[in-house]
Amino acid sequence: MPKPRIVTSILARLSAQVRLVIGALALAFMVATASPVAAQQPTSVNPTASSVNEQKLLQELDKIQGRVSIPDTKSDVLEHPAGRDWRNWHQVTLKWIGAIAILGALALLVIFYLVRGPVRLESGRSGVKIVRFTAFERFVHWMTAGCFIVLALSGLNITFGRALLLPLLGPEAFTTFAEGAKYAHNFLSFPFTLGVVLILFIWVAGNIPNRVDVEWVKRGGGIVGHDHPPAYRFNAGQKAIFWFQVLGGTAMIMSGYLLIFPFYGTGISGMQTAEVVHSVIAMLYIAVMLGHIYIGTIGMEGAFEAMGEGTVDLNWAKEHHSLWLSEESARTGPNENTAQPRGRPAATPAE
Ligand code: HEM
Repeated sequence: MPKPRIVTSILARLSAQVRLVIGALALAFMVATASPVAAQQPTSVNPTASSVNEQKLLQELDKIQGRVSIPDTKSDVLEHPAGRDWRNWHQVTLKWIGAIAILGALALLVIFYLVRGPVRLESGRSGVKIVRFTAFERFVHWMTAGCFIVLALSGLNITFGRALLLPLLGPEAFTTFAEGAKYAHNFLSFPFTLGVVLILFIWVAGNIPNRVDVEWVKRGGGIVGHDHPPAYRFNAGQKAIFWFQVLGGTAMIMSGYLLIFPFYGTGISGMQTAEVVHSVIAMLYIAVMLGHIYIGTIGMEGAFEAMGEGTVDLNWAKEHHSLWLSEESARTGPNENTAQPRGRPAATPAE
């Protein structure tokens, strides 16, 4: 049976060739499908090569912020360059502004005192006293002034204490002092706020600017020269102090409460602005109040007793507030104010 054997061997060879072709096709397919994957594999691994770099993020946004799982979401800010600007402002610029304003004001006052000297009561004392401020007015003044002095000193400790007091006191004593000063600053803000509001109400009527003020300023207020320009109850200089106290005080109060209660009224950048406003006005405020303290004490004879005892000498009133004296005389009768012997104030208060 040669024929069937030949057929069998042909079939066997055919089947071997078909298997070879299928195998070759399968290999070709595998190579073809595998090659794109291989093309994606980098030769050396660099996991951050395609990530956005830090500088780019800071350019796009003004800070680098992530996500946190704790309740305080403010802690998700990793980098905020504005904070560095603010730190530089606080550590360098503010110190210069404060030093120039306060030392500059002190230097000017010393020069003024040496050149001009105190404003003397040129007609001497009459021995007759008249009431200038009621007990309530003096209470409001001294309460606000007392708070102001402690607020100013404790505030200055925040700005300059580390540089000036820490080396003198040492870390422990400075820490105790700074902590006490900070409590004083926070808690005295409340009576100070009350004082600013009360000052507005009790003295606003006498502090509205008028034409007499222009004349008073033109004549140097009697402070620069030896003139005695007329004035009502408050002259232009006192009016300027009043409005600085009311408006500057209000700005201090608003910015101060934003800082005392952080994150209630505003965020980080708002608080930075509040701090800039608070500290710059503080330095000017202290400089202006140094001028006010000067003229109320050593700068003008007979002025301190107005706020100390509540009365002034008749001649002082004539020299510095002649229009007020006329008003008071007209209101209380010809001799009621002026006939009081020295040391016994008039029965009728000035207001
Ligand atoms: C209602 C009134 C006020 C409030 C609520 C208040 C509140 C504050 C607060 C919370 C701070 C920041 C404290 C800190 O960083 O730990 C501060 C700083 C300061 N305050 Fe006041 N303050 C008031 C009035 C005043 C007054 C009248 C002055 C002086 C004229 C003053 C001068 C300063 C100064 C110099 C600083 C330091 C500024 C700095 O270096 O950053 N403050 N105040």
